[in-house]
Amino acid sequence: MTVTAENWLEGLVDEIRPALYGGAVSGYLPEFEAARVDDLAIAIDYGADGILTAGQCHSLFTAQSVVKVFTLLLALHHRGEDYVFERVGCDQGIGSYNSLETFIRGSGVPVNPFVNAGALVVVDMLPGSDPDSRVRNVVDFIRALSGNTSIGVNTGVARSEHTLADRNRALGYFLRSHRLISTDVEELLWAYCQMCAIEVDVVDLARAARVLAQARDVVVEGQVLRAAHLRLVRRLMLFAGMYEASGQYACDVGIPAKCGVSGATIGVVYQRMGIGVYGPALDRSGNSVGGLRVLRQLSGTLDFD
Ligand code: DON
Repeated sequence: MTVTAENWLEGLVDEIRPALYGGAVSGYLPEFEAARVDDLAIAIDYGADGILTAGQCHSLFTAQSVVKVFTLLLALHHRGEDYVFERVGCDQGIGSYNSLETFIRGSGVPVNPFVNAGALVVVDMLPGSDPDSRVRNVVDFIRALSGNTSIGVNTGVARSEHTLADRNRALGYFLRSHRLISTDVEELLWAYCQMCAIEVDVVDLARAARVLAQARDVVVEGQVLRAAHLRLVRRLMLFAGMYEASGQYACDVGIPAKCGVSGATIGVVYQRMGIGVYGPALDRSGNSVGGLRVLRQLSGTLDFD
């Protein structure tokens, strides 16, 4: 058989699948229980050279923490770098993504925009006169980046998350007591839960990630996304996108990436490709086993630095 790009990627799915059984689907939201440990879908957007897909590439899942990449980019676009990084750090995380320890380190702000405390601060600075319009702006932004106007919020997942959001609620009140957010905590929390519940497929993620791979300013529906902001987001993804596994990941794989608890994963290869993976089996650090494997394999085959 001739090895085409498509069957190379399908082959990669088959090769990785056995490793998925070493992970576990997150059980913290009942909605995740429908996911199978051996689900795996991949999309790679090569820009002008097209998109390659493998696995169930039209299955929908919620972005969860992957949305933090896009909320950060939107906040940078709207407020500028100084404003954002006066309120949130750009340090590697410590502890788990939603722990109180991720909070204050010397500077008195959350360690980075990808731990929950930092992500909540970012939600507080997004454009929009109220939390609902901020959610709409994030949905519109992801629609514009991916070119898919049907993207929306899975409200069932958002509600479910909201009823289980005690840790994030505690973070919200703690942030407010430090005057790091100005929005009402309950409203902010509901906005955050909806943003995490934005539903996408791997092609949406790959397309949006391809925008992040650009070397120059990008015009997305009339808005100029600055190259400096894209670069900043890529750098943060590289050193903080995989929670406590980030340092090891950066050395071993080196592709800026971000995972979410649903198994959503994006990767960005500068000037070359945007990668979207769905692999709900998670490892002990809460990262997608399939997502990490795909990125590791790609990193092995690509010549990049
Ligand atoms: O804040 C939460 O708990 C979730 N909605 C998002 C968490 C998440 O995806 C963490 N990543 N692995």
